[in-house]
Amino acid sequence: MATTTKIFKRIDGLSQFFAEQLVERMKVLPEKHFFSIALSGGSTPSSIFQYLAANFRETLAWDRLLVFWSDERCVAPDDHESNFRMTKESLLDHVPIPTTNIFRIKGEDNPALEAERYAKAVGQFIPSYNDIPRFDLMMLGLGDDGHTASIFPGNLHLFNSKKLFEIAEHPKTMQKRITATGTLINNAQTVAFLVTGEAKSEMAATVLYRKPGSENLPASLVDPVNGDLLWLLDEKAAGKLQTNI
Ligand code: 6PG
Repeated sequence: MATTTKIFKRIDGLSQFFAEQLVERMKVLPEKHFFSIALSGGSTPSSIFQYLAANFRETLAWDRLLVFWSDERCVAPDDHESNFRMTKESLLDHVPIPTTNIFRIKGEDNPALEAERYAKAVGQFIPSYNDIPRFDLMMLGLGDDGHTASIFPGNLHLFNSKKLFEIAEHPKTMQKRITATGTLINNAQTVAFLVTGEAKSEMAATVLYRKPGSENLPASLVDPVNGDLLWLLDEKAAGKLQTNI
């Protein structure tokens, strides 16, 4: 696994780089192949998606992008908490992506049944590597507690599950979530952490420098053994990193 860390002055620069990576990787797609991405939720992606919609509407081959999610809150798709709603409002409603390329996690359905259904859908549309579906790009965020996707500290059994998706629970709100597991995440061709804001600076340094105690954090277990790991941070989130990395 190759790890690359890039630091950007502001989120616009990070978004530009992320978008250019997408464009470049899609340019070399074999004919008739699709590029598969699993999107993360939360607030950081919203700004990145808005940038993509505003600046890459014409540049990116949206009809060859298959959009999945790395996690979703167990709420209706029009709920303000929904990662799908956030993505729809900041990106999908503004770019020419066919609806047939969009595979949302149905947060409104029974979590156990939906985790199973969604795992099947991923298996059906995403080519496998070592008998596990392999996303071209898995987008992840970093929580200030070291969570990623919806795997929170103290729930490493979810990361280590052999399933592709599991049911998680937010430690504070008890909100149920459906989350990709480490089995799926670590099989991706590329995993990209997109991390912004000073609130993440301590945790980013803890995970990136493998500080004592980090070994029990879900984000530390992200290790695409046959792929690449990309850390994209803005200067505030990178505030506790040595700049020569
Ligand atoms: C979610 C996300 C979650 C998020 C982190 C960081 O559904 O909330 O998948 O893992 O990526 O909490 O979120 P921010 O980048 O918005 O702080």
